[in-house]
Amino acid sequence: MLTSRVPSPRRYLVCAPTHFDVHYAINPWMRRDAPVDRDLAARQWDTLIRTYREYGHTTESVPPVPGLPDMVFAANSAVVIDNRVFGSHFHAPERRPESLAYETWFKAAGFDVYRPESVCEGEGDLVPTRRYLLAGTGFRTARDAHHELQEFFGVPTISLRLVDPYFYHLDTALFALDADNIAYYPEAFSPGCREVLARLFPDAVRATRDDAMAFGLNSVSDGRQVFIAPQATGLIDQLAARGYIPVPVDLSEFHKAGGGIKCCTQEIRS
Ligand code: ARG
Repeated sequence: MLTSRVPSPRRYLVCAPTHFDVHYAINPWMRRDAPVDRDLAARQWDTLIRTYREYGHTTESVPPVPGLPDMVFAANSAVVIDNRVFGSHFHAPERRPESLAYETWFKAAGFDVYRPESVCEGEGDLVPTRRYLLAGTGFRTARDAHHELQEFFGVPTISLRLVDPYFYHLDTALFALDADNIAYYPEAFSPGCREVLARLFPDAVRATRDDAMAFGLNSVSDGRQVFIAPQATGLIDQLAARGYIPVPVDLSEFHKAGGGIKCCTQEIRS
């Protein structure tokens, strides 16, 4: 018999896709010759926010800034644990101004913001679980940032090397199902890091390349509901078999920029 999964209400920070577009190419998904349907993108994003609220989650919005087409990807701008905010320092010069825009929001909301010395792209590369902070490196967030994070939060920080450019951020290859378990695509990681994940999470859900390429691992879970790309059909079945409730939300326009549900969502953990 399946155990019944228990959700917990979450506080999400988001940014409307008012200025979303593909103006430059900083990952293999981005192509300037594939135009974005801005109206469709707006409708898809609205559906995501409405869906979060229907399931009892809170959403708060950072005002979008003209000229920052990737600012919609709120996950990249910080990681927040115990109400402590570790800000971002982007790899791409085009995205660097986003850090200050988010920092301004956090300060107005009463948070102090730590500014990292090394490149660090927030929850794009950082996945907190109950016992660890899982930290990606290889394409964006620098290994040095992992030391800064461990000093700042005092949480054991597990460095994970990403090896496939399609999975350039940790949150394209792995997500937290609940406090103690994850889903991931093993081949996105170096051989040693695959072993580390297998040791730490023997009960993890392992996804196929097809489901990972469909942004199935760029999902958000509240411990019961998993907000997931409808294209990730195999992973949806695996999650349902484990007692989770997959809630499909299609963000196909955002895939053109290399982003999905999780990229658009930052969690403020109190
Ligand atoms: N175009 C953005 C970039 O390459 C997409 C960021 C997606 N965000 C994420 N959390 N993976 O930086």
